[in-house]
Amino acid sequence: MKICVLPGDGIGPEIMVEAVRVLKALDLGFEMEEALLGGCAVDATGSPYPEATQKLALAADAVLLGAVGGPKWDSNPREQRPERGLLGIRKQLGLFANLRPAILYPELANASTLKPEVVAGLDILIVRELTGDIYFGQPRGIEVRDIDGQKQRFGFNTMHYTESEIRRILRVAFEAARKRSRKVCSVDKMNVLECTQLWRDVATETGLEYPDVELTHMLVDNAAMQLVKNPKQFDVMVTGNMFGDILSDEASMLTGSIGMLPSASLDANNKGLYEPSHGSAPDIAGKGVANPLATILSVAMMLRYTFANEAAAVRIESAVKKVLAQGLRTGDIFEPGMKKVGTRAMGDAVLAAL
Ligand code: IPM
Ligand code: MG
Repeated sequence: MKICVLPGDGIGPEIMVEAVRVLKALDLGFEMEEALLGGCAVDATGSPYPEATQKLALAADAVLLGAVGGPKWDSNPREQRPERGLLGIRKQLGLFANLRPAILYPELANASTLKPEVVAGLDILIVRELTGDIYFGQPRGIEVRDIDGQKQRFGFNTMHYTESEIRRILRVAFEAARKRSRKVCSVDKMNVLECTQLWRDVATETGLEYPDVELTHMLVDNAAMQLVKNPKQFDVMVTGNMFGDILSDEASMLTGSIGMLPSASLDANNKGLYEPSHGSAPDIAGKGVANPLATILSVAMMLRYTFANEAAAVRIESAVKKVLAQGLRTGDIFEPGMKKVGTRAMGDAVLAAL
């Protein structure tokens, strides 16, 4: 049982330390090895996903990632941007199924900017396709072309999906729904984009294999609106890479605290990359104030999905709930009357609760 640990940039290393402590405390006999991904890798090797990291990631059963990116690398050429490292590892490992839960913990009901009655009890799972779509479509680029009688710069990307890519992610969504409230909402833009007409057709066909699960379809603009208007109508939402990127950020903020949300990116055999849904937060990096709970909860997802150890996953999740019930809060989820703690103290509290 090998885990490749990639702390990454910004707050990544700080929150990863806490997650690794939790994992070690469980004493499950994992072999862990650290490597570079993102901006730190660019600085050290010139590549955001260096060969040494690729080797480790390919050999591991699971990858645990902190976060990548930061303003330091903003003006780098595209190939040397930290995000390229993330896209590269997703593609190379075939991690097509991205699971992004948006759960509102009752203790944090006031953290949302929406009215408590709109979000109380919220529990949505966004299933985002992660290795296709306009993110990876060819051709792409910025070129100078002769258009309308003048030479001008022309930017272009290509959205495409094969039916097998659509079917396999829909199956992940239906299987997930079977373990929840048996409702899948498939999100597309079939009124404009042919590619997503195919998405809708294949979703409907795949739905026939799951007569016990209710399938609905929604256009992405309406889905964005419904998520804010009445988010509890959703259980599992499934969509493509681009729409899923946007909707999952929106859904995460319904909970008021992106610092709480883990994510899993899985291949066809449950090998996975696990990371918090939030970014590298360079503004608070190195200060010891970042919230480690999303990364700790990502460890729980890893134990559940890759290592099929539901009991250990639940142990971690219960420990996190206990810590919240004790009133401990990092700055991102702090409210008056609670006890403000830093990254290390939060990690300590989870360890004690474990
Ligand atoms: C995410 C991020 C990435 C994405 C970026 C950093 C490449 O926004 O994981 O949602 O767009 O997929
Ligand atoms: Mg995103």
